[in-house]
Amino acid sequence: MVFQYKKALPALSKQTAHVFVQSKKFSKIPSLSKAQNDYLKSQFSDRELTCVDGMGSLVCLVNASKGNAHTQLEKVRIIADKVATELNKHKIKSVTISSDNDEHTLACAEGLALGNYQFLKYYGDKSKRQNSLKTVACVGGTELKKSLVELKQVYEAVKASRDLVNEPVSYLTAPQIGKEIKSLSKTFGFKAEVWGRAKITSMKMGGLLAVNKGSLDDPSFSTLTWKPANAVNKKPIVLVGKGVVYDTGGLSLKPTPHSMDMMKSDMGGAAAVIGAMCAIAGNKIPVHVIALVPSTDNRPGGNAYAPGDVITMFDGSTVEVLNTDAEGRMILADALAYAKKFKPELVVDAATLTGAAARAIGKHAIVGMGNADNKTMSQIKEAGESVGEPIVEFPFWDVYADDLKSTIADQKNLGGPEAGAITAGKFLEKFTDYPYVHLDIAGPAFVLSRFNYRGIGGTGVGVRLLYQFIKNKVIKA
Ligand code: BES
Ligand code: ZN
Ligand code: ZN
Repeated sequence: MVFQYKKALPALSKQTAHVFVQSKKFSKIPSLSKAQNDYLKSQFSDRELTCVDGMGSLVCLVNASKGNAHTQLEKVRIIADKVATELNKHKIKSVTISSDNDEHTLACAEGLALGNYQFLKYYGDKSKRQNSLKTVACVGGTELKKSLVELKQVYEAVKASRDLVNEPVSYLTAPQIGKEIKSLSKTFGFKAEVWGRAKITSMKMGGLLAVNKGSLDDPSFSTLTWKPANAVNKKPIVLVGKGVVYDTGGLSLKPTPHSMDMMKSDMGGAAAVIGAMCAIAGNKIPVHVIALVPSTDNRPGGNAYAPGDVITMFDGSTVEVLNTDAEGRMILADALAYAKKFKPELVVDAATLTGAAARAIGKHAIVGMGNADNKTMSQIKEAGESVGEPIVEFPFWDVYADDLKSTIADQKNLGGPEAGAITAGKFLEKFTDYPYVHLDIAGPAFVLSRFNYRGIGGTGVGVRLLYQFIKNKVIKA
């Protein structure tokens, strides 16, 4: 997608569609006839989106007057996605957005661009399937010009994240995720170091190695670093992403049918933190951030780890494996323990960790929990609301860890029948010694049918949330 800046509203022309986002009362659209303006005015209060044919070009009016600042932005993104569908139906190549509010202009551009995303790699007739929309132009002051440059990077980061989630394991193995990270590091300007089996073995990352035992492919462990000279923080913020490139459940095989169909998306957490690093580095945000991505697939196999196994983890503690399908916590635990060495100010992980989280709130929100101070918890929730990726905070009380007591090891990897999302979080907390936030994105990371501007398949959830949260550190520093 090309994002263009325009100082003034161009005259209506057939070449481009026009979107007017209005957040107060209806105001007349120049170059439309009185009859058309009267019609738009009559529709404005009842309808969020009205489109008319103006001088041969499509003119859409968006009413963004209802709700609070955050819900207005989300409404605009969702309506913008409907506009994108309309434009593609009419084979229109470009659109110009203007509004009485720059934030709304940007949200509209964001919704149009993200809604226009397609993953066509595996189609034979790609060019036939390509959307017509290629350019989004925005009208406004010079501040908007800068914001559009920023939006372009964020859009590219979400696109990269969605592409990773949409790639099947036939392409995206754990070593391949390392290669993708290397390539993105060059495009966006962060540093990347990728470890393979030998280094992971020498580091004694027992959790990651255990999950990898049934696999034919090597594991990988990637460290992404963005350390600008003008960083506002002394201690880094560390992001950790679950990079299970495919989750069969291992020997505790997922019950077929369909329970495995979307398990290529079990690296959605990795895709979220990788995408966030792309956006942060791409926009040169002055915050020192490190991302850790442990990666493997989880398969049954001759040598696969088995229920009953006791695993010695990277931090030296032991885990009794009672379900090999609770593999995400095994690989994240090693990354979280490794994160201690950076003496982080805060660690945030993102993971498609539990079916329990998805069942609790579905695709509409992220399940969040943590032991970071109230201010940090509020800041991350606030960031989520502002970008349309809301976090529902679950309790993180110590009593939940009681379910993880083992009769043979320091912990077991399986909780009780209740509160599965929380016991998973409490398991992970044992490997931390710093303020910690855990984001379970099992619900919103992947959708089987089109879900507004989030598209179909990988949604890229977490990228804009983590980017916004880290960017806000600069304003609040
Ligand atoms: N990757 C799954 C969680 C998941 C389920 C993500 C559905 C997206 C959609 C995870 O590894 C898993 O299998 N979790 C188990 C844990 C259980 C065995 C304690 C689960 O949630 O059932
Ligand atoms: Zn699993
Ligand atoms: Zn999993």
